[in-house]
Amino acid sequence: MNAVAEIARLKKERHAVILAHNYQLPEVQDIADYTGDSLGLSLEAAKTKAEVIIFCGVYFMAETAKIISPEKTVVIPDPTAGCPMADMVSAAQLRELKARHPQAKVVCYVNTTAEVKAECDVCCTSANAVLILKKLKKEAAEIIFVPDKYLAGYAAQKAGCAVIPWPGYCPTHARILPEHIVKLKQERPMAKVIVHPECNGLVVALADAALSTAGMIKYASENDAEEFIVATETGMLHGLRKACPRKRFYPVSEEIVCPNMKKTTLEKVLRALQTLEFQVELPGEIINRARLPIQRMMDWTKKND
Ligand code: 13P
Ligand code: SF4
Repeated sequence: MNAVAEIARLKKERHAVILAHNYQLPEVQDIADYTGDSLGLSLEAAKTKAEVIIFCGVYFMAETAKIISPEKTVVIPDPTAGCPMADMVSAAQLRELKARHPQAKVVCYVNTTAEVKAECDVCCTSANAVLILKKLKKEAAEIIFVPDKYLAGYAAQKAGCAVIPWPGYCPTHARILPEHIVKLKQERPMAKVIVHPECNGLVVALADAALSTAGMIKYASENDAEEFIVATETGMLHGLRKACPRKRFYPVSEEIVCPNMKKTTLEKVLRALQTLEFQVELPGEIINRARLPIQRMMDWTKKND
């Protein structure tokens, strides 16, 4: 039996669901029950009836699924798949910043460790950061935003408020430069430019839309344009081309690859189903504290849908 057929068989036997992020390898996206952005994956983890979640993404995403569904077995096929941006702020560093701004409310981007989430008031993803800030600014004189300085700047400007940013960033998105967009736009003047808000503000300023990864698929599906310049990780191209087979998508550069997102292979997914390794485990106290900002994000996002 080949890997794909064996994965399908074992998935049933284990009562498992496979969740995959939009940057995963095409063959991994294709065997997933659900492929999406960080927000969609969290919502899916919250509502699934499966006993086991095989999470194809990076560690903070699997951790978020565990925090939302602690009674479930959450398995990450390669536990070394981390997110360098999430590791740019520690709980101790955040506590120090909070001590200097005792009145401030704290927003954590979902790209954070569980320990950091446990220190925060509300979580956000790239899909709802503007909405979360618009809501929070009504009740907070000061807002700390960790760890992505680019998403912080973009969301604060859109929400019309100031934030105290942490100097973190995504090393993959930071490699996308305004020159990439300008050059491609000269070659494809009719193309719409879609960017991820983890990009530098100078890149976002050149975009027709700044969107989460799932937002990009929705935008491309609904927009009349036939060509799109895509400023994000190249894994995104697979989902866009699948959703819109007649449209054309141009990556800003084939080199914009998140190495951690590419660590999960079909073989590792199969092994994860066979062995139920590697399970995400977190102390109960961290789960309880980290669940609050995630739950608040979900509640605020639902009410504004
Ligand atoms: P999305 O939530 O938009 O999928 O982004 C997650 C991420 O890590 C982007 O680098
Ligand atoms: Fe983290 Fe950037 Fe990779 Fe997303 S693309 S998982 S932010 S390193």
